[in-house]
Order: sequence, then C-alpha cells, then structure tokens
Amino acid sequence: MLFPELDTPCIVIDDEIVERNLAQYQDYCDRHDLRLRPHIKTHKLPEMALRQLALGAVGITCQKIGEAEVFAEAGCRDILLTFNIVGTQKLTRLRRLAERVVLRVVADNEVVARALSGAFSDRSLEVLVECDTGAGRCGVQAPDAAAELAMLLDSLPGTRFGGLMTYPPQFAEAAVDDWLRLARDACRASGLNVETVSSGGTPSMWRAHRASVVTEHRSGTYIYNDRSLMHRATCVERDCALAVLTTVVSRPTGDRVVVDAGSKALTADLFGLEGYGYVREYPDACIYSLSEEHGCIDMRGCTARPEIGERLRVIPNHVCPVTNLFDEVHIHRRGAVTNTLAVAARGKVA
Ligand SMILES: Cc1ncc(COP(=O)(O)O)c(C=O)c1O
Repeated sequence: MLFPELDTPCIVIDDEIVERNLAQYQDYCDRHDLRLRPHIKTHKLPEMALRQLALGAVGITCQKIGEAEVFAEAGCRDILLTFNIVGTQKLTRLRRLAERVVLRVVADNEVVARALSGAFSDRSLEVLVECDTGAGRCGVQAPDAAAELAMLLDSLPGTRFGGLMTYPPQFAEAAVDDWLRLARDACRASGLNVETVSSGGTPSMWRAHRASVVTEHRSGTYIYNDRSLMHRATCVERDCALAVLTTVVSRPTGDRVVVDAGSKALTADLFGLEGYGYVREYPDACIYSLSEEHGCIDMRGCTARPEIGERLRVIPNHVCPVTNLFDEVHIHRRGAVTNTLAVAARGKVA
C-alpha cells in the first residue's frame, strides 16, 4: 500500500523531484543571465522559498500581502508584490511590510499610483508598471501608456519607478519582447532608468530567454509541475512532484470507482482538460466527476481495476489552488515520508 502511515486524502511531495526541478530551472536562468524570482503562490511554504533563495533566486514573488507577511516573518528579505494594492487596510499593511523587507510593488493605473504615493509620502517605494502584453488581465494597454505611468510614478512623492512587469501570454515571447522593448525605450527616451523588466510563467519557462529584454523571470509552478504542464509538454510525468493521495472507497459498478478526493481536495479546475487529474497508477482512467468529497473515476480505458482500500496518487490539473486546500503537506523520498510541513500561507488571499 502507498504511504500506509498517512490518512487520506492528503498531499504527498517527492523531494527528489522538487530538488531536481529547482536546480534545473535555476541553472537555466543562470545560463541565460536571467534573475529568477520564484512565485511562492504554488507552494506557500517558507521552507521551499528558503531553498529557492539558497540556490540563487534573487528574491520571491507574492501575489497577496498576506503571503508576503508570512514569508517576511520566515526570513525572506526581498519581495515583489505583483498585484495592484487598493484600499486603506492594505496600504497600512504594506507600509508595515516595507519596514521589514526590500519591497517592490506594481501599478497599472493612476489611482493606484497616487494612493501608493499618499501612503509612502515620507519614504520611497519602488513601483513597477504592469503591462498587458497580450494576456488580457491587468496592465497598461500600450507601451506609451507604460512610459506615461512611469513618468508619473517618478514625479510623485513617495514612489520611485523601478521598471516594467508583465504576466505574459504563453508561448508568445517574440511579441512580448517587442512590446516591452518599445515600453522600455519610451521610458528611456523620457530620461528614466529601467532597472528591471520582469516576466513570468511556467508554461513557457524553457523559452524565457527568447524575450531578451526581460531581466527577471517569475515562475511558480515549476517547483511541482502538474497535469496541465504535462499536457502543454513543459514537463513529463516524472517531473511532477506533488500528488493527492486518495483511497478507493467504493466500486458501485464494474467500471466506476469512487475515491475520497473530491473538489475539496482536487479543486474543480479543469484548466481546459478532460477529467480532474491524472491517476498515476491507472494512466488511462478518467476522473469524470467530482462532488465535494467524492471523485468518480471511469475505468473503462484500463485493463485492471483497483480494489476497495487501494490508494492512488492523482496529479492535479492545476497544482497551485490544490496546495491552498490543505493544512499540511507530506514530504517523501522514494515513498518514505521524511517530513510534514504546515502550509503557512494557506488561505492568505487578502
Ligand atoms: C503575476 C504572476 N507572475 C508569475 C506567475 C507564475 O506563473 P506559473 O504559476 O505559471 O509559474 C503568475 C501565475 O499566476 C502570476 O500571476
């Protein structure tokens, strides 16, 4: 039986794969003169961030102030917050955070820029201009608009323009490079220094060097990988470090198996795929429906059937929200559990 000492459903993480994933991508960044700033939203574990920093990461990326607070407490000293900060509660927390760490944030509009300036009027906060280079989320919409906002940040009290940041569309390095180069040159033409050009994302991590204007890369999922990345050929099964360990609790028909991992363990994130995860022990099985605590698996593609009580490892479609569902994760080496870690930044979504 897999991991007889653990109760299910739970998260198991293969430490040898983590070690290899971290080292391989740090090496890639070093070879391509890219500063690596891992996004911690994937693991939410200070222990993993400290390993990434020890390998050569220049700092960490957080999406939320709550995450940054946890990682600052754990000793991470250089944090980029890639989210527009809106509201007085958050600005107050941001000020406190800036007293403890080297902190940089982003802005993509004048309202956010002026609020940051107001909150930091007696000190100096470095702000990157977020650019929408095609992903269609936040970000100024044109290179000239990036330069305009950069000029504003540079002229306001309390803020200092630190460079450009984008969450790019996948597999579009040439277009992203063109966009950011135009923005950087427009900033330079206005007399601004563009210290950092920060991009990110795991799907196109092995092509990051093709956007040569980029100085810093933010990857998160590369630490564990997941089924969506297998599907996009960014990784293969043996690169996937995290699985949800689950137990077969019922076999109501010859073809249907029910496990104790539902949407509260795997999330309902299809991520454009068919089925809710990849069953390592039965690769041709399809997790076709989830309720909160039950996962229904169609076994028709498989020759064998699992017994009731058998344990399965499921590689989630999208690993980041899955780690946010569990209080702790179990680290193992070759199937033997070596450590259990509390997911310290779990639920820190504000
Ligand atoms: C701003 C930002 N940077 C970096 C990343 C890292 O992306 P990935 O999880 O694909 O590594 C994300 C992912 O959502 C992001 O939103």
